[in-house]
Amino acid sequence: MDLSQILFQAQKEARELKNIQQWEDLYRKYLGKKGKLSDALVALKDLTVEERKKQGQAINHFKQELTQLLAKTQDQLRGSLKAGQRFFDVSSPAVKIPQGHGHPIMEIRRQMEEIFGSLGFSVIEGQEVTSEYYNFDALNIPGDHPARDAMDTFWLGQNNQRSESMLLRTHTSAMQVPYMECHQPPFKIIIPGMVYRYEATDASHDYQFYQLEGLMIDRDISIANFKGVIDVVFQRIFNRQIKTRLRPGFFPFTEPSFEIDLSCVKCQGKGCTLCKQTGWLEIMGAGMVHPNVLRSAKLDHSGWQGFAFGMGLGRIAMIKWGIDDIRLFFSGDLRFLKQF
Ligand code: DAH
Repeated sequence: MDLSQILFQAQKEARELKNIQQWEDLYRKYLGKKGKLSDALVALKDLTVEERKKQGQAINHFKQELTQLLAKTQDQLRGSLKAGQRFFDVSSPAVKIPQGHGHPIMEIRRQMEEIFGSLGFSVIEGQEVTSEYYNFDALNIPGDHPARDAMDTFWLGQNNQRSESMLLRTHTSAMQVPYMECHQPPFKIIIPGMVYRYEATDASHDYQFYQLEGLMIDRDISIANFKGVIDVVFQRIFNRQIKTRLRPGFFPFTEPSFEIDLSCVKCQGKGCTLCKQTGWLEIMGAGMVHPNVLRSAKLDHSGWQGFAFGMGLGRIAMIKWGIDDIRLFFSGDLRFLKQF
C-alpha cells in the first residue's frame, strides 16, 4: 500500500473542503475507525518482520502528516464559518470576548440617579446649547456681574439682542428656569449633564466637565430638608458615615448661599493629605432659590420656595477612587479607563 500516494490524495481533498461536514467526512475517510490509517495498520499482519518494521515507520509518518493536515484545515474552516453555521469543538479553549464598561463619571451619574430617584427626585435632561438669558440673566447674573468672570464662556455667535446670544452652558443651573417655566411646583428634580468653560486647564479644571444640578420647589421647604437629602446621598455614594457642613457662600441665584463640605472620606475628619489637614472636603454649592430666579420663572407670587445645589461629578469620582487629575476623565486614555 503506497501511503504517500494516499497522503497526496488526502491533501488534494483537503484543499477542496468547503464546510465542516465535508471536513468530518474527510476525517472519517482517513483517520476514522474504518479509514485509510486503520486499513494500513490491519494490513501489517500480512507482512514479514522486516517489511513490517519499514511499513510501521511509514505509517507513523503518514498518521502524523494526516493529523496535522486535518487540524490545520479545521482551523481554517472555523475561521471562515459564516453566521448560522455552527461548529463546536468542546476541547478548544474559549475565546475571551472583550467587554466594555461604563465610564467612571457615568457610574457616579447612575448611582446619583438611583439614590435621588429613591428619594423621589426626577431626572431631567437639558440641552448643552442654551441662551445667555437662561445661563446668566434669568439666574440673577446681569451683564456686568462679576460672577460672569468666573465662568468664561464658549460663545456660539452673538446676537444683537444680547440675551438671545447662544452659548455652551457653563453650568447645569442654566436648566433651572426653562424647567420652572413649563412645570408647576411642587417638584424635585436633578439635572446631570456636561458643562463647558473657556479656561486654561489644570489638575482640577477642565474645559468640559460633568455637573449635577438639583432643584426642589414646594411651599415649606427649608435648609433642613436640603441637609437631610444630601446627608443620605453622600452616605450612600461613599458607602460610609459622612458628616456634612454648611458654610456661608455666595451665588447670585441663591439667597442665602452655602458651600457644602463633607467630612474627609479618607481620614474621617482627623486630617490627611486629601483634605489638606482640614478634615473637610469641599463638595458643592447650594442655597435657597433667589426670589429673582423664581420671578424669572413667574413663580414669585404664590408662596413657592425651595433649594438648589450644583456639584461636579468629576470631583466626586476623584474623591471616591483617589484620582488626582480631572483631565484624565475625557482624555480618552484607555490605560486610565480600563481600571474601572
Ligand atoms: N452653578 C454653580 C457652579 O457651577 C453651582 C451651584 C451653586 C448650583 C449653588 C446651584 C446652587 O444650584 O444653588 O459653580
